[in-house]
Amino acid sequence: MGKCHALAWRTVTAVFGGAHPQLEVLCDTPGDRAQAQAQAAQFGFARATDDWRSAVLDPAVDVVSITVPNGLHRPMAEAALKAGKHVWLEKPMALTLADAEAMAEMAGRHPGQVTILGYNYTRSPAFQAAVALVKDGVIGTPRAFRGVYDEDYSADPAQPWHWRMTHEGGGLGALGDLGCHLFSQMVQLMGDVAEVTALTQIAIADRPAPDGKRVVENEDSALALIRFASGAQGSFATSRVAHGRKCRLQWEVHGSDGTIIFDQENMNELWVHRAGEAGFTRHLTGPDQPDFGAFCPAPGHNFGFNDQKVVEARDLCRAIAGGAPCRPDFAEGLRIERVIHAMAASQGRPVSLPGRSACQSARQPEGDRA
Ligand SMILES: NC(=O)c1ccc[n+]([C@@H]2O[C@H](COP(=O)([O-])OP(=O)(O)OC[C@H]3O[C@@H](n4cnc5c(N)ncnc54)[C@H](O)[C@@H]3O)[C@@H](O)[C@H]2O)c1
Repeated sequence: MGKCHALAWRTVTAVFGGAHPQLEVLCDTPGDRAQAQAQAAQFGFARATDDWRSAVLDPAVDVVSITVPNGLHRPMAEAALKAGKHVWLEKPMALTLADAEAMAEMAGRHPGQVTILGYNYTRSPAFQAAVALVKDGVIGTPRAFRGVYDEDYSADPAQPWHWRMTHEGGGLGALGDLGCHLFSQMVQLMGDVAEVTALTQIAIADRPAPDGKRVVENEDSALALIRFASGAQGSFATSRVAHGRKCRLQWEVHGSDGTIIFDQENMNELWVHRAGEAGFTRHLTGPDQPDFGAFCPAPGHNFGFNDQKVVEARDLCRAIAGGAPCRPDFAEGLRIERVIHAMAASQGRPVSLPGRSACQSARQPEGDRA
């Protein structure tokens, strides 16, 4: 993800215009300065360090990109805020809900500094088009959401133990790594979550490590039923052990007048059905959809994963320049954390989420209750 941020920083002005970010200092693992220097040379950073605190405190640095294991998110983000920097932080926000609350509280005390979380999938043209279709009422009132985000990066039991599998390194498991992305899209389509009932599973109890086997501490998969504040219903599933699934961030919204289907593995298309039509119509991304045209004037020539991050960088740069606030910032990110942690804690019992659970929806259903 560090490379993804570096590419975005290098590309954002070429794609969208505006001031050129200066790439001041790149930091990598403590004790491996040579690695940091090699990466800095590759990506065009002026300097390299293996000491993240010095990078964060560097007076030449205005914005800090944080793309490290989740256990470092809170200390790095808080140090950056304290040092007066803007913060671009990868998801999930933190290891625990208490950490996320503390970070959101601290960001609230630094209102002049921009925070943004790396929910890049919300930036693809197809997703932005889907939000607009829902907002414009093309499928009527959203009644139901069916969503999954499955990958297979841990499906092989021989896959070695990894920081993602611990409370101290990863925090939540599949919910924090993948489910939060699905949630970031779901909430923009469906609105706030009022209640969740979820089950989690550790499918592979331990993993090979150089010093023997190590225990897997967090969930490999999760399943949830959702009641939205609007009265709509949802199902939500995520897994990091789903053989064959690479980036199956896939959902459909069933509305009173139609259905929209999206699948990130085919991220340049949306399938839309309106009541009365014989089947689904394929909508291919093109320059008439948000942000596509800044990359390419030709429809169907496809937008990519790294391009999403360039759009995210554009949103961050605009907010720093005094434009529209970034979404999701730490306050909005906390609302995402509340729901995924509620899912992790549910163990089959309904958990209520009082008040706004997350960012504003595209369309708040009125009247029509599923
Ligand atoms: N938005 C997305 O689509 C997306 C995708 C993948 C990962 N991520 C997030 O990005 C973050 C990193 O994930 P990854 O897959 O790149 O992990 P990774 O393990 O591949 O890379 C982590 C990097 O952090 C460096 N690092 C570790 N400790 C450090 C320290 N003390 N100081 C400086 N550098 C240190 C490591 O050397 C490594 O280069 C995670 O929070 C993850 O959830 C987001």
